[in-house]
Amino acid sequence: MKSKPWVAQRYQMNKDILTICKSGHPWIFRSHVSSAIEVFEAGQLLRLVDANNQTWGYGLYDPDGLIAIRILKEGKNPPENNWFSKRLDQILEKRAHLRNYTDAFRAVHGENDGFPGVVIDIYGKTGVLQTYSASVDSLGRYLASLIVEKLQLENLIWKIPTKRASKTKVQDLRVLRGHLPAKVCFREGKMNLTVEIGSGQKSGAFLDLRALRKWISSQKLHGKRVLNLFSYTGTLGLAAEVAGAKEIWNVDISKGALETAQKVHVLNIKKHRPVVADVFEWLKSLPEKEKFDLIIVDPPQMTSQVAQVPVALRAYRQLYSLSLKHLNDRGILVAACCTSRISRPKFKETVCPIVSPPLKLIKTLQPEDDHPVGFQEGDYLKILIFEN
Ligand SMILES: C[S@@+](CC[C@H](N)C(=O)[O-])C[C@H]1O[C@@H](n2cnc3c(N)ncnc32)[C@H](O)[C@@H]1O
Repeated sequence: MKSKPWVAQRYQMNKDILTICKSGHPWIFRSHVSSAIEVFEAGQLLRLVDANNQTWGYGLYDPDGLIAIRILKEGKNPPENNWFSKRLDQILEKRAHLRNYTDAFRAVHGENDGFPGVVIDIYGKTGVLQTYSASVDSLGRYLASLIVEKLQLENLIWKIPTKRASKTKVQDLRVLRGHLPAKVCFREGKMNLTVEIGSGQKSGAFLDLRALRKWISSQKLHGKRVLNLFSYTGTLGLAAEVAGAKEIWNVDISKGALETAQKVHVLNIKKHRPVVADVFEWLKSLPEKEKFDLIIVDPPQMTSQVAQVPVALRAYRQLYSLSLKHLNDRGILVAACCTSRISRPKFKETVCPIVSPPLKLIKTLQPEDDHPVGFQEGDYLKILIFEN
C-alpha cells in the first residue's frame, strides 16, 4: 500500500451483505459470503458492488476467522493516500484536548475510528501498533508510518496481540523504527506512570482506565483502606495513594505485574501490599474481618464467545457477592467489565441485584475520547461505581 496504489478487486454483494453494510456495522461474517470470495488473499482490497453493479464501498478480505470482510470506506472513490492522512488528522484532532492532561493516548481505536483491526497507542515519543489479523497488517503499518510523521515519534513497536501470536506463531514483537525502550514514563495529571511495552499486556498499559484513575485520584481517601482486585501493574492503586489512601492491597495472578507495580507505581512502599493470587480463590479465603473502604474489581475479558456468556455472568455474580462481604459501611465498590460480548444493560442488570440494596449506583464512567464507541461490540468497557 505504501508504494503501489491499492488495486481493488470487484466483489458483488448479496442482499444480506448490503443490508449489513447499510446498517453501519463494520464486519461481514463468513456465513454471509459465498465461496467465490476464497480466490482472494488476506488483506485484498475489495470494491463492494450491489446487484446493479454500483459501487457501495470498500472492504478488506480476511480468509481466516469469523469475519470475512472488514469495511474500510463507504462511497464510490477508493481509499487513497490523502484519504488516510485526512482521516487520521480528524481522529487526532478529537484527542487534542486529552494531550493537556497526558502524553499517552490511543491514536487509533480500530473499527471505532473507521480503521478495522488496527490499534495504535502512544506513550510519549513511542508508538505501539497492534494488528488483530494478517489481513490488516499492511493497513496498520501504513497508518502507523503516517502517525510517526504526524506526531514526530522516535520509536515504533509492532506488537501482535497475544491471542493471535499464539494461534499463528507469528513473531509477536518487531521494532519498526528507533528502538524498544525497556520502560517508558508518561504522565496523567499529577500521576507519573510507567509502561513496559515489551513484557506488558496489550500495548503495555490499560489506557482505557484513565477516566477511572482520574476519578479515584480525585476522591478523599485519607486514612482509607483500598482493595485493588486484578490490579495488573497497580496504576489504580497509585491513583488511590495519590488520593491519600493509607493502605492498598494489589491482588493479581501475575507475579511480574505486581513486581512492576512495586517498582514503579508506589510512592510510599509501606502503604502497598502485593498479593499474588487467583482472585476467585483468594476472596473465598479472605477473613471476613478484613474490611475496605474502596474495592476495585477489574477482571480480564471473561469470554469472546457468545455461548460462554452465561458462564461469564456467573463469574461476575460470584466476584461481586464475594467482594461485598469486605466492604465497609459507606464504602465504595467499583465494578468494571471489559467483556464486549456482555452489553452495558446486561452487565448492569447482572451486578445491580447482587449489590443493591444496600449499595446505590452513584456513577457510570465512560471511556475518554481516545476510546470512541463506533458500533455495539465497540462498547466493551463498562464501569459502574456503587456506594454503601
Ligand atoms: C483488565 S486487566 C486489569 C488492569 C488493571 N486494573 C490496571 O489498572 O491496569 C486484568 C488483570 O487480571 C489478571 N488476572 C487474570 N485472571 C486472574 C485471576 N484469576 N486472578 C487474579 N488476577 C487475574 C491479569 O493478570 C491482568 O493483570
